Amino acid sequence: MAEELIISKSRDKKKRYESLIPQIKALIDNEKNLIANLANTSAALKEAMNFFWVGFYLVEGDELILGPFQGPVACTRIQKGMGVCGTSWKNKAPIIVPDVDQFPGHISCSSLSKSEIVIPGIKDGEMILLLDVDSDKRSDFDLVDQKYLTDIVEQIIAKS
Ligand code: SME
Repeated sequence: MAEELIISKSRDKKKRYESLIPQIKALIDNEKNLIANLANTSAALKEAMNFFWVGFYLVEGDELILGPFQGPVACTRIQKGMGVCGTSWKNKAPIIVPDVDQFPGHISCSSLSKSEIVIPGIKDGEMILLLDVDSDKRSDFDLVDQKYLTDIVEQIIAKS
C-alpha cells in the first residue's frame, strides 16, 4: 500500500476506527520489524484519531521502556505495578482511566493529560508490549476504544 492514510472525517469514532484498522493491517502486513510497525501504528493512530499522546512501551526485564510514540515527550521507564501502565502489566488487563487524578499512583508525563487507556500486548501468556493513549479531555475513552485498540495490538502481537 502507498504510505498515505485515507482519513475518515466521521464524527463517529467507531467509523473512524473501522476505516483505519484495515489500513494499519496493510501497513504492518509486509513488514516484520517490530519497531517499524509500532512507529507506523503510532503515527496512523495519531493522524486518524487525533489523540493527544499515543505510543508503545516495551517490556525489558522488570521495566517498561518507552518505545515509538507520537505526542509530547514522555517518561522513559516504568516499573511493574507502578502507574496505569505498570498496573496493566501486573494484571495483564486493559485499563480505562476516565480521570487520571483519581487513579492512585498515576504517572503524569504531561499535566495536560486528563484521561487514559492502556492495552497490554500478550504473547504466550506474558505481556511483551503495551499501547498507551492519553487524552487532554476527561472521560475520553470507552469500550469502543478498548475493542478497536485491542484488535490493533493483537495484529501487532500476531506478527511478533
Ligand atoms: N500515565 C502513564 C505513564 C505513561 S504516559 O501517560 C505516556 C501511567 O500512569 O502509567
